[in-house]
Amino acid sequence: MAFKSLALLVAIASVFQFTWVLATPVKKTACPNSSHSAINAACCTWFDVLDDMQANLFDGAECGEEAHSALRIAFHDAIGFSTKGGKGGGADGSIIANGDVELEFAANNGIEDIATPLQALADAHGKSYGDIIQFSAAVAVADCPGGARLQFLAGRPNATLITPDGTVPDPFNTVDVILARMADAGFSSDELIALLTSHTIAAADKIDITIPGTPFDSTPGTFDTQIFIEVLLNAIHTPGAGLQQGEVKAPLAGLMRLQSDFELSRDSRTACTWQSFANNPKLMNQKFTAAMAKLAVLGQNVRHLIDCSEVIPTPATNTVPPFLPAGKHQSDIHQACAATPFPSLPIQPGPQQSIAPVPPS
Ligand SMILES: *[C@@H]1O[C@H](CO)[C@@H](O)[C@H](O)[C@H]1NC(C)=O
Ligand SMILES: *[C@@H]1O[C@H](CO)[C@@H](O)[C@H](O)[C@H]1NC(C)=O
Repeated sequence: MAFKSLALLVAIASVFQFTWVLATPVKKTACPNSSHSAINAACCTWFDVLDDMQANLFDGAECGEEAHSALRIAFHDAIGFSTKGGKGGGADGSIIANGDVELEFAANNGIEDIATPLQALADAHGKSYGDIIQFSAAVAVADCPGGARLQFLAGRPNATLITPDGTVPDPFNTVDVILARMADAGFSSDELIALLTSHTIAAADKIDITIPGTPFDSTPGTFDTQIFIEVLLNAIHTPGAGLQQGEVKAPLAGLMRLQSDFELSRDSRTACTWQSFANNPKLMNQKFTAAMAKLAVLGQNVRHLIDCSEVIPTPATNTVPPFLPAGKHQSDIHQACAATPFPSLPIQPGPQQSIAPVPPS
């Protein structure tokens, strides 16, 4: 009994201690010429970049076309890295610094639309291109309801290498080829699926140029789990000008489905991880945050970077639980994970919808 009371006392004491820690205000320094204050004064200038970026790149902190473009450039820049060396320098901004070469690669088609304004922002604020790219990706995710709050480390030096062509996995590559390229860059198959969370806000402009802004899931303005549900639905629709290279049929009119998403969702090596995110936004965001933290510093010496995560805004929550789109049923789901049945989901009410494109701004 005495032992029990002691344990209780210890428990109460640690609760108090915890509350005390939470209640102690973190000391912040007012940033010069700004409405912001920072725990680390060295991060102050990033608040100026944030204000400029939100107003002038993200159209007032919108989860729109530029948000998915920011995630796309963050991946395409960083993935140029190889653990064996001999490729690019990773998350170093070479896609901007050497844009005359790298933006000509077929896999980087359309990236100039985000590379150009990011270069201008970096130059205006005296930031490196490697930093501005990873910063824009973290801000983009924060602008999306349901998004994760990503880590942001600052201080990447200018790029010293030009990334060769062929480092970005193509949507028409086989699963074997994609997994091998990701492993070469240092990522497991689970981390690849976590990174593909980015497709929840994706839309394609260049795969089928007759229908710019074709979204990959029915809720492109929300950082939800719908991509992990909708890629597993049986597909009947061929959008736009017919199936392009790297594209397969989609489950709803107006949607685009990448061949690589389709195959990764059904491959025995990746299907269960894919399914595990379908009704678990918390797990999805945890794994995405970890994989992005790794991607954002590929090729960098993190001991030379400073943590300015405090500058990244807190995303709005998404209150809509995972669902099957209107007109679809549980039987339309392709059961690809052999170990666990696909979770039972509510069906969105109403008639089946055609999905509208993400308008360019
Ligand atoms: C703050 O603004 C003043 C007046 O515009 C300017 O002279 C000064 O250099 C600015 N300081 C910083 C740190 O930006
Ligand atoms: C990094 O690149 C930018 C843009 O090309 C340039 O203005 C800056 O001086 C470079 N910084 C260093 C340290 O070389």
